[in-house]
Amino acid sequence: MLTVNNLSAWYRYSHILQGVSLEVKQGEIVTLIGRNGAGKTTTLKTIMGLVDKCSGDVSFDSHPILGRPAHERFHLGLAYVPEDRRIVPGLTVEENLRLGIIASASRAKEAQMIERIAETFPRLKQRLSQQGVTLSGGEQQMLAIARAMMAEPKMILLDEPSEGIMPILVEEMFAQFRNLKAQGTTILLVEQNVELALSLSDRVYVMDQGVIVHHDSAAALISNPEIQEKYCSV
Ligand SMILES: Nc1ncnc2c1ncn2[C@@H]1O[C@H](COP(=O)(O)OP(=O)(O)O)[C@@H](O)[C@H]1O
Ligand SMILES: [Mg+2]
Repeated sequence: MLTVNNLSAWYRYSHILQGVSLEVKQGEIVTLIGRNGAGKTTTLKTIMGLVDKCSGDVSFDSHPILGRPAHERFHLGLAYVPEDRRIVPGLTVEENLRLGIIASASRAKEAQMIERIAETFPRLKQRLSQQGVTLSGGEQQMLAIARAMMAEPKMILLDEPSEGIMPILVEEMFAQFRNLKAQGTTILLVEQNVELALSLSDRVYVMDQGVIVHHDSAAALISNPEIQEKYCSV
């Protein structure tokens, strides 16, 4: 579904990604882990088309996408939930959800999607008319994910969804990732909560200083404390 080959990315003169290669197959949950500053967010942003200076090859759903604008990647079925969530102030939960739908969708389809998303995220269902910014941090994160799901993406890129969120909500959120996977969504997840991420993932890539230093099945990495200690402490 997503193939990244020898990806480099720069911010001004800093060469941040230095030849990243990774693959996410259809229906998989793949996690990218690594210390702060390793380049995880930059990897997701470059895949989504939000970093100007980059080279290498990225193909999504058999389309070469590097060099295409972010909105085209979105229309091909790639969604991205950034670290900072970006709930739009002044809008209710439902209005925020409506923002996520592709402009061409009909009103009927929109209502149907809200219904479906609300079933997947019961916590949002109870709060559809509440102002989005008055939700708790964890609920805002769920809203950001639910909003991305409104466009029915084939694949979603999630950047540290559990950051700053109460453990009980994190568990609930991860249960929803399992649901999304069961519904056929492919997921590339960046996550500091390694234990929880591994429990959910098929495969894992470990990143350090702009390169992939290790990749393995989640099951194998669970029983590899050295790698976890070396590369995953914050
Ligand atoms: N907008 C930016 N401009 C310049 N440097 C940046 C920018 N964003 C991130 N960086 C640098 O790129 C490196 C990788 O950052 P990032 O991808 O955010 O890492 P991670 O998500 O793994 O913590 C860090 O050294 C960071 O300081
Ligand atoms: Mg980051």
